[in-house]
Formats: sequence, structure tokens, C-alpha cells
Amino acid sequence: MEIKINERKIKNSLEIIFVINKNLQHTFNRDKALLKKVGFKGEQDEIFFDPRNDRLYVGASSLSHSDLRSAAAVAARDALKKEHYSSLSLATYTQKKANMTPMQGVLEGLLLGSYNFIVYKSKHKKSSIKKIYVSQKDYSKNAIAKKELQKVIEEATILAEAVNKTRDIVNTPPDDCTPKILADIAKDVALKCGLECKILEQSEIKKEKMGALLAVARASRHDPRVIHLTYKSKNAKKKIILVGKGLTYDSGGLSLKPSDFMTTMKSDKAGGSAIIGIMQAISKLNLPLEVHGFVGAVENMIGGDAYKPDDVLISKNGKTIEVKNTDAEGRLVLADVLTYAQQEVKADYIFDLATLTGACVVALGEYTSGIMGFGDKPKMLLKKASLDSGELSAELPFNRHLVKLLKSETADICNISSSRYGGAITAGLFLSNFIEEKNKNKWCHIDIAGPAFVQHAWAENPYGASGAGVRLMVSLLKNLTR
Ligand code: BES
Ligand code: ZN
Ligand code: ZN
Repeated sequence: MEIKINERKIKNSLEIIFVINKNLQHTFNRDKALLKKVGFKGEQDEIFFDPRNDRLYVGASSLSHSDLRSAAAVAARDALKKEHYSSLSLATYTQKKANMTPMQGVLEGLLLGSYNFIVYKSKHKKSSIKKIYVSQKDYSKNAIAKKELQKVIEEATILAEAVNKTRDIVNTPPDDCTPKILADIAKDVALKCGLECKILEQSEIKKEKMGALLAVARASRHDPRVIHLTYKSKNAKKKIILVGKGLTYDSGGLSLKPSDFMTTMKSDKAGGSAIIGIMQAISKLNLPLEVHGFVGAVENMIGGDAYKPDDVLISKNGKTIEVKNTDAEGRLVLADVLTYAQQEVKADYIFDLATLTGACVVALGEYTSGIMGFGDKPKMLLKKASLDSGELSAELPFNRHLVKLLKSETADICNISSSRYGGAITAGLFLSNFIEEKNKNKWCHIDIAGPAFVQHAWAENPYGASGAGVRLMVSLLKNLTR
């Protein structure tokens, strides 16, 4: 969908009107009685369609970008079902002292809310709505500058396209998105966005001695890949490493998942897919940074060649790992890719994104990502980015007692904790073993297991992959350039 600035009334357009904080004062005078009559209160995400005037009313609790993003997404989802219209139109909404203009929330919401994954539907009616017209004026006839609005439109479009790209990758079934195919997707994005792209195939991964990653990959008929995307601005102010978990399928391995837990595990590549989306967005935004995106693309399967509980793996950094559960595979893949990334690049910050643990979903719920790390600076950056982007996150604090739970009698460390509690944090602590001493305070781990895959649509997210982490990290990277 294309967004354009337009002041005149458009034929066949559905006007979307936000009712802020249940205040019907700002709706059209002659609609007030009607809205009262139908019992429309303007609660967050409540909608009312008025076919006589071609208006779609939607409630938002405030002018904050996150409330508007959610309301706009709900409105877009509803509007797309209406066959009569060829476009949407809306006024501008402004708020003084906002960390992000309300309009960015509105436009992102429209573009993110109207996403649907139809690749595998043999019969699918396309919506007739193709354009979004935005006025420079609000309903009180205040106007914002054309240039300013143009910039918001551009940014919202770049962000939404990156999120939707990530969603497309994650939603693709596992046999149509093997490690090789994921690497091909990364190459394609690199080509389109002017990124460098280096792909390590099995033989090179062996040369790099990534013993942990290779063990996870062994039972699959699809060889693993390590993807390295580089975005380098001429006036780079900071150097950043991003690492993503790209499990194209996680069956659990020999510690096989029960069937109910195995479905949706195509989404175990969400961290890696987010890295590809982030790299696309920052190159289109031209941020003055140097960013290296690494993805460990692996399939975790069963078979005669599978790695097993009791195996001891030698990771790339030399530490030995006793496998106690082959379903704790993401941390094994990340261990080697984190080691590789730090040897390849000396960075100011290191972030990893991963659908790492069910425990993180238990701890924080399905809507919130878990943030773990030692350094206050990267944690603060994430906290701010969370507020700026509207992606929910919360810290899960490390402590020295949990560290002891990873002790192994046989090897340097176990791949799971000896306790059933605190599993998101012990997974984060496991990863910390593969962060070099000098990088300890530069690193944060982000567990996106909760929000990465959506079972029931919420806010700007329809069913399926959400693209979690993309808006969060792009906000963070943008803030690093200020
Ligand atoms: N990919 C899963 C984590 C996951 C669970 C992601 C639910 C999204 C939704 C991960 O590889 C895994 O299986 N983790 C285990 C760890 C356990 C064996 C210590 C888990 O969370 O149960
Ligand atoms: Zn697993
Ligand atoms: Zn996994």
C-alpha cells in the first residue's frame, strides 16, 4: 500500500477517524448523535463503520504512538474486508513533546495491520484498497509541514516494509525456508540494499571449528549456513554486532518436542529473520553506522546421525559443553556464532535476538521480550528503544546463584540448568560464557520467544509472525546516531 499526501476529498475513499480518549468532541458534529445511538464509546481499538458517510471510527486511549498504532492496525484490518473502497484517507494527528510523532504510529499501524500471508492460499481475494491519503491538516485545521509529513511517511514505510519482510520469512514453512534458502534470502536483500554478504557453507563452518553449531545441524538433510551481512556508512559513528538465532525448524532433536509444542517451530528462525529485516531498514534509512548482522541458520532434527544427550561438544571458543537436552539447541548455535562475530568484528555493542526459551514466555507473557546482560549502557539503550518503538520489553536480572546451575561434572558447562526455574535467565547466562571478557558490558541478549509468533491477533500484529525485534533494534540503532 502506498501512502500519499492529499488535501482534497477522494472518490471511493474510506475516511478513518480516531476518537482519542473517548472524547467525541472532535468527531463531526452531525455524527455525534449517531455514535451515541449505536453505543460507540471510543474504547481502545473499538470500531464503528458508518457506510452512509464512508467513515470508519476507531478508538484510541491517547495520542501516544503505541495506542494509535494499535487502533490504526485494527481499523486497517477491518477496512480491507470492505469491497467498495479503493483507498483510505485520514487527517493528521499531532501531539506536543512526543518521543515519536503520533502519525508515525498511525501509518505503521495501517501498514502492519493490513499485512497478511497469502502465499499458500490458492484462492484469495485481493483487497481493493491500494492507497492511503494523508492530509497535512488535523480536524482543528492546524497543519504540519509537508516536508515533515513526507519524512514520517518515508520512515514508517521503510520500517513497516522491513517488519513485513521479516514476517514473510518467518511465516514461510520449514521445507521452503531451509538454511540454504534463508542464506539466499539474505543474499537477495544484500543485493537490493547494497550490503556486503558473506555466507559460510558447511565446509567453511567446519574450518571455523563451530563444533556446537555443527552438532545441532548434523541430523538434518539441510546443511547449515552462517550468514554475515555488513552495512557500512562512510561516516559511521558506532560499530555494532547483531546476532540472530535462525533455527529454520526446531523439532527438539532427540529430546523430541511433544507434537503440540512442535507446531509453530518454523518461527524459531525469527531472531535471524529479524536481523535480515533490520539490515534492510538501516540501509534504506542511511544511518551513519557500521552494522554487522550474523545469522546461524540450522535445522534441529532427529535421525541416526543426531547429536545426543550425554554428548560433549567442543565449541568454537574452545569451551566444552555437556549436552543434557538437544532441545536447548539455540544457545549452542548462538555460542559459536557469537564467538565468530567477536573474532571477525571489534564492536561498540553486541546484541543477540533469539526465540530462546519457553521460560521467557512464562516469565513475561506473550507480548514482551526479555532483556538480559551485564552492562547498564546497552540495557538502557534497549529500554529507551522499547519506549520509542512501542515494542514491549523487560529486564530479567542475572545473579551469581543462577550461574552455578549450569555446572557440569564432565565438561566445562551444561547446555541446560539443573533447576526447572529461571530458565530464560540461565539460557542468557549460558550465552554469556561465549562473550569475551572485554565485551561483557557491551552485550545484551534479547529473548523474543513470546512476541515473535502470534496465536491471536493483538495490536499491530495479525496471526503469525510479528517481526518482533525489528522496530526495537532500528530505534536503538537510530538513537545511537544522535
Ligand atoms: N525454540 C525453543 C524455545 C521456544 C519455545 C520458542 C516456545 C518459542 C516458543 C528452544 O529451542 C527450546 O526448545 N527451549 C527449551 C529449553 C529447555 C530444553 C531448557 C524450552 O524452552 O523448553
Ligand atoms: Zn529447542
Ligand atoms: Zn529453538
